[in-house]
Amino acid sequence: MRDALGEVQSVLVLGGGSDIGQAVCLRLIQGRCRTVILAGRPEDGMDAVAQVLLAGGADKVEIVHWDCTDVDSHPKVIGDVFDQFGDIDLVYAPAGILGSQEAFEADPAFAAAAVQINFAGLVSASLVVAERFKAQGHGVLVLMSSVAGLRARKDNFVYGSTKAGLDAFAQGLGDSLVGTGIKVIVVRPGFVHTKMTTGMKAAPFSTTPENVAELLSSALANGHEVVWAPPILKYPFFIFRLLPRAVWRKVSERG
Ligand SMILES: NC(=O)c1ccc[n+]([C@@H]2O[C@H](COP(=O)([O-])OP(=O)(O)OC[C@H]3O[C@@H](n4cnc5c(N)ncnc54)[C@H](OP(=O)(O)O)[C@@H]3O)[C@@H](O)[C@H]2O)c1
Repeated sequence: MRDALGEVQSVLVLGGGSDIGQAVCLRLIQGRCRTVILAGRPEDGMDAVAQVLLAGGADKVEIVHWDCTDVDSHPKVIGDVFDQFGDIDLVYAPAGILGSQEAFEADPAFAAAAVQINFAGLVSASLVVAERFKAQGHGVLVLMSSVAGLRARKDNFVYGSTKAGLDAFAQGLGDSLVGTGIKVIVVRPGFVHTKMTTGMKAAPFSTTPENVAELLSSALANGHEVVWAPPILKYPFFIFRLLPRAVWRKVSERG
């Protein structure tokens, strides 16, 4: 249960090996968060994240096996977390893959797998979380969109379309839960320096996981439902969405 100051005390991370997830948890631990449950696949580096969080001041960090693509398991795996750890104030869901447009075009099954992780799996998990939040009467769900989802670019439209779907889903789910005490926050980062983007040329206004975590922390405190990271990106993307397609094709070409 969020404390008297409204601060998060417990968090479940769906995609527990995420670099941004680690930064978000560390930021929450600087506040009142003491219990973290990292959910992910065994190979996802969650042990290392757990060590960092314990060193950062968490009282309890638990690791559970959760695969975003194994949608049949979601009700049990997520339900067990709520049953075992009681109130979960925040579910942060950074699970995702970037992939490359070339790899997706060469292997359509890989493109479908990206849709399964970045969109379909998170839809399933979010609906399970929403039911559990309803049962406990409160909760905040945070989903990771991307500026790549706001207007598809020809050089990463598979990834972009997964994020477009997730962004629309997050907004719709949030609207459907108004009045229940449950909130859905959608985060729209630009380029963040993490293992996902290692070796890539940074885009303008690139940022860090710590900055994303700080912005999310402010949104939690202020009740905002959309987080741009960094905030300045909302202005170019407002314009980009209005551009005629022929102009957008030119503008969106990466050098
Ligand atoms: N970094 C950026 O520039 C950026 C920009 C916009 C949006 N985002 C979004 O922000 C989120 C977090 O990104 P990040 O930068 O923190 O990347 P990250 O460190 O690579 O985190 C993504 C996590 O998702 C896990 N994952 C992948 N497939 C999974 C599955 N089937 N089941 C469970 N977990 C799975 C990954 O595990 P493995 O490492 O083992 O694959 C990884 O731990 C992602 O959704 C990403 O799309 C990132």
